[in-house]
Amino acid sequence: MERRLRIDGHTLLAGVTGWPVAHSRSPLMHNFWLEQRGINGAYVPLPVVPGSFDVAVRGLQAAGFRGVNVTIPHKESAYRIVEEHGRLDRSAQRSGSVNTLVFAPDGQIEGYSTDGDGFVANVEAHGIPVKSGRALLLGAGGAARAIAASLLDRGVDVAVANRTRARADALAAQLSGIAVIDWAQAGDVLPSCQFLVNTTSIGMDGGADATFPLDLGRADAGLVVCDIVYVPRQTALLRQAASHGLRTVDGLGMLIHQAGLGFEKWFGAAPEIGPAVEALLDADLHCAHAG
Ligand code: ATR
Repeated sequence: MERRLRIDGHTLLAGVTGWPVAHSRSPLMHNFWLEQRGINGAYVPLPVVPGSFDVAVRGLQAAGFRGVNVTIPHKESAYRIVEEHGRLDRSAQRSGSVNTLVFAPDGQIEGYSTDGDGFVANVEAHGIPVKSGRALLLGAGGAARAIAASLLDRGVDVAVANRTRARADALAAQLSGIAVIDWAQAGDVLPSCQFLVNTTSIGMDGGADATFPLDLGRADAGLVVCDIVYVPRQTALLRQAASHGLRTVDGLGMLIHQAGLGFEKWFGAAPEIGPAVEALLDADLHCAHAG
């Protein structure tokens, strides 16, 4: 593909706010799509220190940005800003956080949460329908809540197990229809589940050095094992699942699918979510991993 280097007065601007943000693959992904689509746009990393998120958002809006992605630790701050001054999409209301801000032409800020729908879209892109059955979610952080909301919306029963039980109880209080299981007992519900989803940092490079209280040998043969960790792509959990003959879905596709809505709203065209962008990110992750 021919490289487009021109930035001018018509360039559409977006980016990702986070702290730290240097590790984010979103600039690589969005700029690839911009080039692929021939759109005059640019997507930049925006390191915003905790405590400065509000002023950064106002500044970016005033400077003509079309919008931004929001990552750790600003997703709750983004929710609060939009709740007070803008329009919260239902996805954001359900998940209690915002990962995509759109600065609308009328001066309002729109807030969306695309993590949960990105997760579901990725599973379905693997040819696995998400419309019934039961899911066991491991973890009770922001990602777990977004995924739980999207699964419940599609008619999937959700059970949550978290090391800190009180956090799982709090999640269940925010979204009705969730069963809470003690972390140590998580394996007991596995035989009745069609989906197992890891949303904890266990298995992530540099993440928690711990194991799951589960024996995948007890799982139903139809269980689909999903991990939202994508560094490394093949986590120990996914390798273990594959060795039991279970279907697996890794976390890279969720990263790609959650990005589509923002790209379309900021730049006016749907990105191509397919093997080309996946190969690009996969190669980049391998490089970083090897380095
Ligand atoms: P996010 O918002 O991205 O989901 P988070 O809020 O930091 O991230 O949540 C991380 C999840 O990983 C939590 O569910 C956390 O469990 P606790 O609520 O008990 O902290 C889970 N987690 C992290 N380290 C863990 C470990 N060693 N064993 C089990 N769970 C762990």
